[in-house]
Amino acid sequence: MPEVEVIARANVNVALVKYWGKRDGDLNLPASGSISLTLDGLWTEARVAFAPGERDLVEIDGAPAGESEHTRVVRFLDVVRERAGRREPARVVTRGTVPRGIGLASSASAFAALSLAATRAAGLALAPAELSALARRGSGSAARSLFGGFVEWHRGERADGVDSFAEPLLPPQGWDLRVVVAVTSSARKPISSREGMTRAQASPLYPAWIEGAEQDLAGARAAVRARDLDALGAVVEHSALTMHAIGLAARPPLLYWHGATVECLRRIWALRSGGVPAYVTIDAGPQVKVLCTPADAGAVAVALGAVPGVERVLTCAPGGDAEIVG
Ligand code: PMV
Repeated sequence: MPEVEVIARANVNVALVKYWGKRDGDLNLPASGSISLTLDGLWTEARVAFAPGERDLVEIDGAPAGESEHTRVVRFLDVVRERAGRREPARVVTRGTVPRGIGLASSASAFAALSLAATRAAGLALAPAELSALARRGSGSAARSLFGGFVEWHRGERADGVDSFAEPLLPPQGWDLRVVVAVTSSARKPISSREGMTRAQASPLYPAWIEGAEQDLAGARAAVRARDLDALGAVVEHSALTMHAIGLAARPPLLYWHGATVECLRRIWALRSGGVPAYVTIDAGPQVKVLCTPADAGAVAVALGAVPGVERVLTCAPGGDAEIVG
């Protein structure tokens, strides 16, 4: 087969209703559905070619991938090769604007970009749902990063996972919100989301999470369709705070927050009691992400930037679909 090199780019996404727990760890099948917003400006670009050679070569942000990242990418390439009936090793080069491993969803954008570039380079043209289910194998949240705007990833029922894929709920231009991100630490997170989910699922509070999942999803879906920020924000904060509460009750306990994380949360609640509709979400790390209107994003950024311990503040608009760029 002729060597084809493909370059694809995908944005990160922030979960509004969280994916937290798996019904199958090998296939990355989630214990419940989730809803996210794809963000503009934080992206990964993956360049992939399959060609005869000794082994897969993986370069990330200008340096050879470390052992665990290399293994994770090779495992994903094996899934693509099996699907395409190809055997050649691949050359993978990724670069991007997302700091890695600090809870800013770098793996979601990386595996979404990689799934698009690798399938095309291997000669596959998958339908969006199939591509999303494939991206899921690399990183669960990557299933959502293939699509722009508001996105829902379905739990699915099947053991083989073909019905566990994401699809768009509302395109990015359908509702112009902002997500203001306060980075409280650039250190690598000590507990991966996979390990965090394993601990959470052993928490005595986990059953309550599963019981509440459908209600959170229905509430978020309806709020997105109605473009109702207060209704969406209430679900978003509830989903994030419940996710973190489950960790606190686990043995050993799991706490991703730093002091500045708590202080950011308090500042946003103070802003809200002053009439600014702004709502917090927090993922598997100490960073704080705030959902608000474009008009309030400046005030939110100033409030977060004034919290001692906040290293920097980024403001993101809704982002678009993953795409082939070369
Ligand atoms: O896709 P993973 O394995 O990186 O897990 C993502 C976990 C959270 O970011 C905390 C929640 C989510 O839905 O993205």
